[in-house]
Amino acid sequence: MTTLGTPLSPSATKVMLLGSGELGKEVLIALQRLGVETIAVDRYEHAPGQQVAHHARTITMSDPAQLKALIEAERPHLVVPEIEAIATPMLEELEAAGIVRVIPTARAARLTMDREGIRRLAAETLKLPTSPYVFCDSLAELQAAIDKGIGYPCIVKPVMSSSGKGQSKIDGPADVKTAWDYAMAGGRVSHGRVIVEGFIDFDYEITQLTVRAVGANGQIETHFCEPIGHVQVSGDYVESWQPHRMPMAALQRSREIAKAVTDNLGGQGLFGVELFVKGDEVWFSEVSPRPHDTGMVTMITQWQNEFELHARAILGLPVNTALKSPGASAVIYGGVDAHGIVFDGVEDALRVPNTELRLFGKPESFVKRRMGVALAFDADVELARTHAKAAAAKVKPRVA
Ligand SMILES: Nc1ncnc2c1ncn2[C@@H]1O[C@H](COP(=O)(O)OP(=O)(O)OP(=O)(O)O)[C@@H](O)[C@H]1O
Ligand SMILES: [Mg+2]
Repeated sequence: MTTLGTPLSPSATKVMLLGSGELGKEVLIALQRLGVETIAVDRYEHAPGQQVAHHARTITMSDPAQLKALIEAERPHLVVPEIEAIATPMLEELEAAGIVRVIPTARAARLTMDREGIRRLAAETLKLPTSPYVFCDSLAELQAAIDKGIGYPCIVKPVMSSSGKGQSKIDGPADVKTAWDYAMAGGRVSHGRVIVEGFIDFDYEITQLTVRAVGANGQIETHFCEPIGHVQVSGDYVESWQPHRMPMAALQRSREIAKAVTDNLGGQGLFGVELFVKGDEVWFSEVSPRPHDTGMVTMITQWQNEFELHARAILGLPVNTALKSPGASAVIYGGVDAHGIVFDGVEDALRVPNTELRLFGKPESFVKRRMGVALAFDADVELARTHAKAAAAKVKPRVA
């Protein structure tokens, strides 16, 4: 049974978010609405989530000593990772010592912190279909992997990276060195390991949001949201919509794969399972054990958006994944490199029918940094996509 306390009192239910970007901010808002005391942690000050939490802390989350000291000082009931680059072995230690509960589990956070743990689990342990792959530590190993079986075209990604950073497609022998150099420059830590994956010529890709929540009988139940379709440009999401119409057989297969992965990762919370689909065939790509960027569309399409579902599931509360209306999201990029930018055109954007905006409040803008998102609902999902893109295009970030 879940008992919730009063924030800023001895009875408080305390939750710490590790990473407080736009996704963490919405989880924090959902927790705030349930009277949870929130601690927003990030590597820089005034991160979006820190602006809506009871407490803001700024540390290097990949440093085990800093992470341990903060958790021991704050003693949250739950630690909720929002990003991958965290000292996850330390989280496992603290969880094993009974000091804290990590969402969904410390093991899940470790396995998904780089591409290797989760890929080996999915393909080798769970025997799920994935693209063919090889992990490589040098340009020579990369070339050998391609020559011995991966072939062309293929995709090279740093083992530690997200949002498509350092990722590129190789169409032929002339691209191999460029792709290697690009991966070395774009990885999160420069330990020079990459995954090379055979290119899957999919018809479309989806995110299957999957929730593990406690049911009425006290057992964990798995709930599925309607599939989310999305468009990626250079490995980064620019547009998403829900529901993505797909054949029943492919949807069932997607949910089987999502269930297998999330059953193994365990714990409570929402997961974003990324899948490639061609006809009735489905491949597992990767999974986030937390809300997913493409799932921002659920802020306008579901009765309980992915952040509320996560908040409820981690607190042991019931969830409802029902769709409210079809809808779409479109990303608003910074377009400029500057601090404290301003946004023109917000009123024009909101004049587009059935739209909403989220501006994340990030203190610093980069040309390719996600600064906001436009949302639209409509019975016709294609019209919702048109409206979301139109609204996003009307927002004009500029130097103040
Ligand atoms: N093997 C593949 N075959 C075809 N397309 C691929 C393959 N791997 C990745 N892609 C494309 O690149 C996109 C990004 O890949 P992936 O999800 O692995 O990178 P990421 O850096 O983790 O991105 P994010 O953090 O945004 O999820 C995929 O959504 C897909 O569109
Ligand atoms: Mg991805």
